[in-house]
Amino acid sequence: MKHHIRFKVNGDQYDLAVDPWRTLNDLLREDLNLTGTKFGCGTGDCGACTVMLDGKTINSCLTLAVEVDRREVTTVEGLAPSGEELHPIQETFIEKGAIQCGFCTPGMEMSGLFLLNGKKTPTESEIRTALSGNLCRCTGYNKIVDAIAETGKKMKK
Ligand code: FES
Ligand code: FES
Repeated sequence: MKHHIRFKVNGDQYDLAVDPWRTLNDLLREDLNLTGTKFGCGTGDCGACTVMLDGKTINSCLTLAVEVDRREVTTVEGLAPSGEELHPIQETFIEKGAIQCGFCTPGMEMSGLFLLNGKKTPTESEIRTALSGNLCRCTGYNKIVDAIAETGKKMKK
């Protein structure tokens, strides 16, 4: 039997009937066409599916769609203030060359932003700890860490 849920994604309200076994990742990618959030391992190991739920990062592959009832989800599509502008973390990832294939990037940016929302000038160690649930197979991590540190400085200004 389907369950009726009412929730917000990136400020937009949705009312949907969902099967109880479907994940938030299924809902975002397949029903709402928000494919910025990736699906990698499906087991909570890679972080490619990271989104914010009520302001805290979660793995959308491990979260059932029914769990977001009356809650608010933010995906990478919701970070930019408009179609013309990028969020500072998105700009800085580009400037610092912190993207290669880009598969990990939405999850990295969500985890980085969650850290920066609490502390604008984290140490390198704090940044690496914040990214410990996000895997990248391309960049070697240093540029991603630099991009997050630089974003914090920009957000502080
Ligand atoms: S797809 Fe969710 S952690 Fe890998
Ligand atoms: S840029 Fe390719 S997985 Fe991170």
